[in-house]
Amino acid sequence: LIGGTGELGTALAVHFAKVSSVLLGSRDLEKSRSVVEKILDDKSNDERLRSNLVPSDNFRVVAECNIVILTVPAEVAIRTIKQLSESFRIDQILVSSVAPVEKTENGFVSKFDSKGRSVTQQISEILPRMVRVATAFQTIPAHILYEERPISADVLVSCNELTTYQSVATLVAMLPGLRPLYLGSLDYAGEIERITALLMNVAKRNRLKSPTLKFSSF
Ligand SMILES: NC(=O)c1ccc[n+]([C@@H]2O[C@H](COP(=O)([O-])OP(=O)(O)OC[C@H]3O[C@@H](n4cnc5c(N)ncnc54)[C@H](OP(=O)(O)O)[C@@H]3O)[C@@H](O)[C@H]2O)c1
Repeated sequence: LIGGTGELGTALAVHFAKVSSVLLGSRDLEKSRSVVEKILDDKSNDERLRSNLVPSDNFRVVAECNIVILTVPAEVAIRTIKQLSESFRIDQILVSSVAPVEKTENGFVSKFDSKGRSVTQQISEILPRMVRVATAFQTIPAHILYEERPISADVLVSCNELTTYQSVATLVAMLPGLRPLYLGSLDYAGEIERITALLMNVAKRNRLKSPTLKFSSF
């Protein structure tokens, strides 16, 4: 997890580390160490977390992990990927969970770049072509996941290759109550990124706490 010390990173980490080794990345290794200690404290020293959750800096995450998840604020996402781009390896998967939301006087809007490109599209243009890029997790309320409260939600995924989708879908399915759904190629990443602003506006105007996305079909 790049920026794994924040709200979403720690929420994903507590679930993934129950079944797999997880590097909790940070710009500052000491910060990662203290966040891992805090997680272990919160989670009653869970044995699986103790052995699988590894404090790390962001560079080591990119150097060692097959699947790298970007969980930093939107305004620093591109800069962060640029700084790390040379450390990526062939056939890695980079999943962006970044939602570029801006608060305005009237509510929340999605903020793409001057060419209208989503954060995920921009990232895929920066990274070497051998890195497979996907987008996912934008609509999951992190604190519900961290607190391990029951949740039933869909996670939209966009990426260009079927094999990438299968890997990301497996990752999503590791999280209890979450269902992966394929939206389409990276051209659709912006549609996923936009849903966060939609959810935040609905929450604000209708006093909903922590809304998420769930499709019903009849
Ligand atoms: N929170 C949610 O419920 C939620 C849900 C879905 C998606 N998201 C998306 O996930 C992303 C992360 O959200 P979050 O709430 O977890 O964010 P956050 O807690 O505010 O920040 C996450 C981490 O980003 C790193 N970071 C902060 N400033 C940075 C900078 N200038 N340069 C590089 N790294 C920096 C920090 O790690 P270090 O200081 O350790 O480097 C921080 O712990 C956002 O794009 C958000 O839209 C959030």
